[in-house]
Amino acid sequence: MFNQKLFLMIPGPTPVPESALVELARHPLPHRSPEFSSIFMECNEGLNEIAQTKEATPIIYAASGTGGMEAILANLLSPGDKVLSVINGVFGKRWADMAELFGAEVERISLPHGKAVQIEQVKGALDDDTEKKIKLVLVTFSETSTGVVNPIQAIAKLVREHGALIAIDAITGLGAMPLKMDDWGIDVLVSGSQKGFMIPPGLAFVWVGPRAWEAHKEAKFPRFYWDWTKAKKALEDKTTAFTPNVSLICALRETLRLMRAEGVEKAWKRHERLKQCTRRSVQAMGLELLTIDSEGSSAITAIKPPAGIEVKQIRKKLKEDWQIVVADGQADLQGKIFRIGHLGFVCDRDVLTALSALAHVLEGLGHSVGNNWTKVYADTLKEFAA
Ligand SMILES: Cc1ncc(COP(=O)(O)O)c(C=O)c1O
Repeated sequence: MFNQKLFLMIPGPTPVPESALVELARHPLPHRSPEFSSIFMECNEGLNEIAQTKEATPIIYAASGTGGMEAILANLLSPGDKVLSVINGVFGKRWADMAELFGAEVERISLPHGKAVQIEQVKGALDDDTEKKIKLVLVTFSETSTGVVNPIQAIAKLVREHGALIAIDAITGLGAMPLKMDDWGIDVLVSGSQKGFMIPPGLAFVWVGPRAWEAHKEAKFPRFYWDWTKAKKALEDKTTAFTPNVSLICALRETLRLMRAEGVEKAWKRHERLKQCTRRSVQAMGLELLTIDSEGSSAITAIKPPAGIEVKQIRKKLKEDWQIVVADGQADLQGKIFRIGHLGFVCDRDVLTALSALAHVLEGLGHSVGNNWTKVYADTLKEFAA
């Protein structure tokens, strides 16, 4: 019976608020109707508030986040264009591989697991490009496979000075941590529904800024479904170029209302608090983190298991005994870390429950966590309340 209470503490899909679940249960609206247009346009306005942009055009695709990543390449590049790609894990690598497959020339800055890119590394690569061949820089905001965050604001500034475009994969992290598309000079942004937006998977969001629109006009890669020109034309008519995922868009309107009611900055603070509660508590339990604090994501924390205990034992016990799901590591980090998501519709009760369950599981597996972590947790809450 209690498997019906399955509790997701993973970095997507994230928990969905009940009022959004109710939206998903309704009969689908006809997509070419004034009722749907009004919901769709409210979503576009809400998306721009979350991305902190007034200048960009939001595009909503019926796709997972990867579709949005592909749309960016297809709409901005031509065969042989040079791309600089920052890789901190699985998703940064995916974007670089995709660009290569399309026929771009890709220069990679590959980081060790759990490390953010250093600004000097990006500066070095851009300074070396004396002929200004680099057309597009691809960076992951919060790399979900390692829980690391890149210094986007500083990178965007360098890229502006160089003259290339910058595209950010904010599929995880948008809504959870400061990111200001206009102020920071980001040209294109991509995110997905099943993360900070608190609805199930199935929508990709791409924001296209003014310089990206200019580059799009010259870009020669073939595109049909992903074509920004088609999407923009449809948006002028308050609709989508192709049949939208109407149910998810209705749910999105609801969660965007919740996000706007909480306030963008308050949500960033809540996620920072959940991050610190998680990081400090698991360290007090004697566990080691994959990232240093200043490079750690507010959406997800990657944790190494104690010596002699396997990740799969921890995940199995959490799921079977507590109905709590945490994520394994990905690719070559599989079995080496486990990842606790604290993204979206997540409150202190959820994090405290997950950590308490983790403490019980670890004790049961022979690792003594001691009592100090609960004090550390309480002190962190007090610090954030002050
Ligand atoms: C940072 C990041 N980029 C890209 C993706 C791919 O998105 P999707 O699985 O929705 O295609 C994910 C998914 O977890 C992600 O976290």
